[in-house]
Amino acid sequence: MKTIGITGTGFIVRTAHLPGLAACKNLLVKGFHDIDINAAKAAKQRYLTLLAKAKNPVLDVAVKETKTYDDLSTMLDDVDAVDICTPPKHHVMALGLAVERAKHVACEKPLARNWWALEASPSIGKGIKAKKLAFQLHTQAIWNPLIEAGRDAVQSGIIGEIEKIRVLHQTADPKHAMNLASLWDMHHAGGGALMDIGPHAYSVMWYWLGTRWTPVATEAKLLKATVPVRTIASIPNTRITVEDDAHIIIAWRDKKGKEITGDLEATWNQKDWCDGDVGTNLEPTLYYEVHGTKGTLTFPNIVPSNSKPTSLEVGFNVMAADGSKSFLGHPIPMKRIEESIFFEELESAITSGGPTRNNFKFSEDMLAVFGAAYLSKKNGGVRTTLDEFKRFARDNATPDAPVEHQVSAIIDALQ
Ligand SMILES: NC(=O)c1ccc[n+]([C@@H]2O[C@H](COP(=O)([O-])OP(=O)(O)OC[C@H]3O[C@@H](n4cnc5c(N)ncnc54)[C@H](O)[C@@H]3O)[C@@H](O)[C@H]2O)c1
Repeated sequence: MKTIGITGTGFIVRTAHLPGLAACKNLLVKGFHDIDINAAKAAKQRYLTLLAKAKNPVLDVAVKETKTYDDLSTMLDDVDAVDICTPPKHHVMALGLAVERAKHVACEKPLARNWWALEASPSIGKGIKAKKLAFQLHTQAIWNPLIEAGRDAVQSGIIGEIEKIRVLHQTADPKHAMNLASLWDMHHAGGGALMDIGPHAYSVMWYWLGTRWTPVATEAKLLKATVPVRTIASIPNTRITVEDDAHIIIAWRDKKGKEITGDLEATWNQKDWCDGDVGTNLEPTLYYEVHGTKGTLTFPNIVPSNSKPTSLEVGFNVMAADGSKSFLGHPIPMKRIEESIFFEELESAITSGGPTRNNFKFSEDMLAVFGAAYLSKKNGGVRTTLDEFKRFARDNATPDAPVEHQVSAIIDALQ
């Protein structure tokens, strides 16, 4: 059995990672680390409770071996892998330590506050490769069997060659009051809604397009604080402004130089949604549309299933170029199944040395795409290549300053 330690044991660990990990039979959470030791202790207790509830035999080992830690390095010495779930500002530090000690890594999105944070620490990328470490970035959706089925449908050629893709993810407006600095302070997360929700939308676009396409440029259509001033629940009388709506166009190129575009929308404002029409009246929090040479596929669409007892099926509408329609239906997957698949795949990659569903390069490219979007916005929405953004980052990273300051200098320069 492989072992993993979690650093940062807050909201996402409680609500998503622990339910997923409690279903895994070959991966033991051996350590919980947090700057707030009480949070680590509460997470350990929740893990044991969830293992018991799932009747998972891992419980017996966990009761004996799982510990809480107030020092990350000590925890790393005791585990095969680390799951980094601290606020984004601290991801690279934990990642650097893990790679130095040759530990496999799962990390919450976004991998860093910007692309330069990784570029300025080249030993990380090189170490992952040289030491053959498994790396997975945790984003929503792509480990969900439904989203996998969508990818399989698109890749099967049912709509022909992809010409355009549209991927929208949204969340409800956090009532204009946000507790976490990582949501409103550019220096904590590198941005607002694009850095927060954008990774989910980007990951589905990348996953559905497949390995043929590489991102090359971004255009910012809208990167805006549609709620101009927000309050912060934890700091009375503070007023902040942060982008809550992001619409960007990503240009993807194949080896022959052919380009297609992907529209990405990431928003905290559920009301601002996909021109008002999403193919269902159930107010989904995501919507995908792929146009190909032979038709168009949309998701999600929900219909009654023919099976007994009557239930709902969710799936993909395919509209062929001749106007004929078909529906590819799937049973609705169990809640939280994507997290257990995420960790099972991580364990399998550690054990077999095989590939992970996404990887470090994917996470790095995503940060370059988002960086190019912010630079595009600064320059009035012009198409901005990833190389132009990388040059901009190099020019604005104050040389000789600690990496932390270099990353901040780029965040400031993009304003
Ligand atoms: N995949 C998703 O759907 C999703 C949803 C929410 C958050 N996230 C991501 O998860 C990460 C954590 O977000 P959250 O909402 O759980 O935040 P949170 O504030 O609820 O939890 C963060 C935890 O990290 C601890 N922490 C802070 N600095 C630390 C450090 N240097 N070392 C160790 N522990 C530290 C805090 O004490 C806290 O317990 C972020 O990267 C965020 O973007 C992902």
